[in-house]
Amino acid sequence: GRTIPIEAEKAQPERQQPSKLDECRRCDLWEHATQAVGGEGPKHAKIMIVGEQPGDQEDLAGQPFVGPAGKLLDRVFEQAGVERKGVYITNAVKHFKWEPRGKRRLHKTPAQKEIEACHYWLEKEIATRKPKVIVAMGGTALKSVLQTGSVTLKDKLGRPVRHGDSWVVTIYHPSYVLRVPDEASKHEAFSVMVEGLKLAQELLD
Ligand code: URA
Repeated sequence: GRTIPIEAEKAQPERQQPSKLDECRRCDLWEHATQAVGGEGPKHAKIMIVGEQPGDQEDLAGQPFVGPAGKLLDRVFEQAGVERKGVYITNAVKHFKWEPRGKRRLHKTPAQKEIEACHYWLEKEIATRKPKVIVAMGGTALKSVLQTGSVTLKDKLGRPVRHGDSWVVTIYHPSYVLRVPDEASKHEAFSVMVEGLKLAQELLD
């Protein structure tokens, strides 16, 4: 087997069983992805943040939210006064779905059947980590967390709901904020994310 130097192992943040996840064939997205990207963060984090799926950079790095969306998320954490290191961050779908556009790999929104196939993994993460609060970022995350294809972001934005043993707080996805064209609306959407994260923190008390 593979031996991991003990110091390197210690330096790694806790990851979700990457090897088994990487072998997942529950849907076809693995075929065009570099690798599966598992969640990252302390095992018993009280807050779990759920994104959509790895992007181009995450697919290459094998870590969630290391690209432009991750950079924006870092600013949200900072504004909300929440430490990124203290929360568990994962995605609803673990393989990057994309289509070629010239030399670039363009993100494609996962289909409901792919969200459902990958829910298997998210459910495991929730069951073993038992977060008090799950922050769903965007529609895909919300659909996976609540296990329904019919829920929309608008339904739940800003209103926490109970789901199983957790609270679910719904906020925008950072990539949405990045795409908002005018500055005022962008600022507003960013604030909604910050307020949502603050709310998640308050629900722990
Ligand atoms: N967008 C996501 O939803 N997740 C990532 O990990 C990166 C970008």
